[in-house]
Amino acid sequence: MRLVTIVAGLVGFSVAAPTNQPHGDALDTRAPWPNGPLVTSGRWIRDASGTNLTYVGVNWPGAADVMIPEGLQYQSIETIVSKIKSLGMNAIRLTFAIQMVDEIYSNGAKDITLQKAFTQALGSTNGPKLLNQVLAKNPQFTASTTRLQVFDAVAAECAKQHIFVHLDNHISKGMWCCSTDDGNSWWGDTYFSAANWTRGLAYMANHGKQWTSLMSIGLRNEPREPTSGAAKSTYNWQTWYTYMKQGAEAVHSSNPDLLIFLSGLSFDTFLTPVVRGTALTPGTGKFSFNDFPSYANKLVLELHNYETSANSCNNLQNNLYNNGFEALTSSAVNQFPVMLTEFGFQMDASTWKGTYASCLASYLPAQKAGWFIWVLAGSYYIRSGTQDYDEGWGLLTHDWSTWRSPSYVNEALIPMVKDTLS
Ligand SMILES: *[C@@H]1O[C@H](CO)[C@@H](O)[C@H](O)[C@H]1NC(C)=O
Ligand SMILES: *[C@@H]1O[C@H](CO)[C@@H](O)[C@H](O)[C@H]1NC(C)=O
Repeated sequence: MRLVTIVAGLVGFSVAAPTNQPHGDALDTRAPWPNGPLVTSGRWIRDASGTNLTYVGVNWPGAADVMIPEGLQYQSIETIVSKIKSLGMNAIRLTFAIQMVDEIYSNGAKDITLQKAFTQALGSTNGPKLLNQVLAKNPQFTASTTRLQVFDAVAAECAKQHIFVHLDNHISKGMWCCSTDDGNSWWGDTYFSAANWTRGLAYMANHGKQWTSLMSIGLRNEPREPTSGAAKSTYNWQTWYTYMKQGAEAVHSSNPDLLIFLSGLSFDTFLTPVVRGTALTPGTGKFSFNDFPSYANKLVLELHNYETSANSCNNLQNNLYNNGFEALTSSAVNQFPVMLTEFGFQMDASTWKGTYASCLASYLPAQKAGWFIWVLAGSYYIRSGTQDYDEGWGLLTHDWSTWRSPSYVNEALIPMVKDTLS
């Protein structure tokens, strides 16, 4: 499906493209940031100069009911991006909902205002109240700023601070993700229209051309088997491949610069048949780079891991290898860059010292694999019906002002960032 022309006509406004900041050192001969577009070469992601580039960053959710990036009622975008930067990180995984784009199409090609978005999601008392808090912290916005303009502002601030943006289609209907009965689990599920999905991917890929910081997009977060309904019978690798090719084509035809991330089955916990080149069952077809003509060097694999009660690092590492990290090695039939785009745990004084967190803190840097920790959010505008929901796994405190677990951040997270990038 080619939607480029239609989509281009829908972009109702534009922000000034952020300028690249010159390097302070006159002898610095590096190409200007971000030095894209990025490509893959075997297991590496490379920039336009051919230098390896590894994403190390954090998930910043923007796909829940309000459908804008979280935390803006507590802090400015600039403050939040500065905090990410202070960890030495170089990227964010910014999630969005397809519903945001659907509503642009059903609203006469105009995006919804913040006024409407907050009231729609939080009600007529708390909606305007939250909006006023957002405007107080982020005075560049007004009640008639649109949701997409908030995404633009996040992307522009990231460009200013040299943080790469990886967009992630997290869900179709804007809400907390993910379960097997949330109607968003698989193509054809209640809210998960394949046509709306490819349209939404194409729209965001095209819109993102004006974001200097945007380098890549994840086609779909955590595909999973629906509990019930017609889509349940199509949950398999063969169907997965059909839709991944459609999604990749929708992105690539709209914005050929972007890297395209593929997620695996069972909540994106494994991609083994893709890596080992075995049958995508129930059919006999196999993954082939030839199915992505002219952009085989744009594909990246992403996995999630939440084996938080692991008690053997060895077992955890074997699982990661068998689930897809093998693609980083020469024993893979199909080599790819592989990233752990979600992992996370309770942010307290001790959980980070356990097997799960400490194992990942050594494994990922040792593989030179990129990663995004879940999650930046200290709290959500609303999650599963609860407003101002506190996020115990958040790197930041409830009001996004400081680190929830300073010992984790200083003794493990910052070293993990450094080790991965070294
Ligand atoms: C960059 O890629 C090359 C392979 O071309 C690899 O040998 C090298 O270790 C990589 N460097 C870093 C810093 O990851
Ligand atoms: C697809 O988008 C249209 C708006 O263009 C919307 O009316 C419809 O409900 C969406 N489909 C699903 C399954 O969400």
